[in-house]
Amino acid sequence: MSVLEIKDLHVSVETEDGPKEILKGVTLTIADGETHAIMGPNGSGKSTLAYSVAGHPKYTVTGGSVTLDGEDVLQMSVDERARAGLFLAMQYPVEVPGVSVANFLRTAKTAIDGEAPKLRTWVKDVNAALGHLDLDPTFSQRSVNEGFSGGEKKRHEIAQLELLNPKVAILDETDSGLDIDALKIVSEGVNRFRGQEGKGVLLITHYTRILRYIQPDYVHVFVAGRVAESGGAELAEQLEAEGYEKYLAGAAV
Ligand SMILES: Nc1ncnc2c1ncn2[C@@H]1O[C@H](COP(=O)(O)OP(=O)(O)O)[C@@H](O)[C@H]1O
Ligand SMILES: [Mg+2]
Repeated sequence: MSVLEIKDLHVSVETEDGPKEILKGVTLTIADGETHAIMGPNGSGKSTLAYSVAGHPKYTVTGGSVTLDGEDVLQMSVDERARAGLFLAMQYPVEVPGVSVANFLRTAKTAIDGEAPKLRTWVKDVNAALGHLDLDPTFSQRSVNEGFSGGEKKRHEIAQLELLNPKVAILDETDSGLDIDALKIVSEGVNRFRGQEGKGVLLITHYTRILRYIQPDYVHVFVAGRVAESGGAELAEQLEAEGYEKYLAGAAV
């Protein structure tokens, strides 16, 4: 039974005018077997939430707590968070020139498992994962994210998800910039992941489109640094029809 618990999380970033509070008390519990979608307008703090849980140094936690299976995530280094079972697919994956996809994946897998994967099965696993995401085996010789199309970046993130197989996956706008075929392929990857025992998914998205392929158990409306409303999948339909306006009107943006 694994569970990610975010309680009253406050996060600031350093700006030229001093610290600016972005997250203003986020509370969210993702138990295993659950998929939660976070939907919100641009600039509401969705990526800040993802980065803060993953441990990006740019973000300062000023209050609240994050625990995974009762362990204090905020005390962990980024590496320790990954080893504990947290995975983040970034909205804008970074280029790592000179590091091949194959090396990157192997290094990540070794760091997370504490030992290098067995070479024979590993190569098979990598090729299988790339194949599931409709990426050619030669893809593994390319530099990480360098010159990747938007769709290739996102598919590569989901290949990582498959190979690293964390407990909780935080997917930040994994649907953005995908054409309909790539969206299906990526969604199938996420569905394979969450079809396993004991997995949690936090799916951050701007659009309801991906929720047709990945049905969430819970939908949270995220506005001005906090959860403004929570509900079931039907809340996404309502957002599609009505937009975020009614929430923005009530929030101090
Ligand atoms: N370094 C920074 N300096 C100033 N503002 C920042 C910084 N980083 C993020 N922000 C602000 O934090 C808010 C939330 O950003 P973000 O988490 O990326 O939102 P979302 O992912 O929901 O679009 C935005 O208003 C953004 O301008
Ligand atoms: Mg974002």
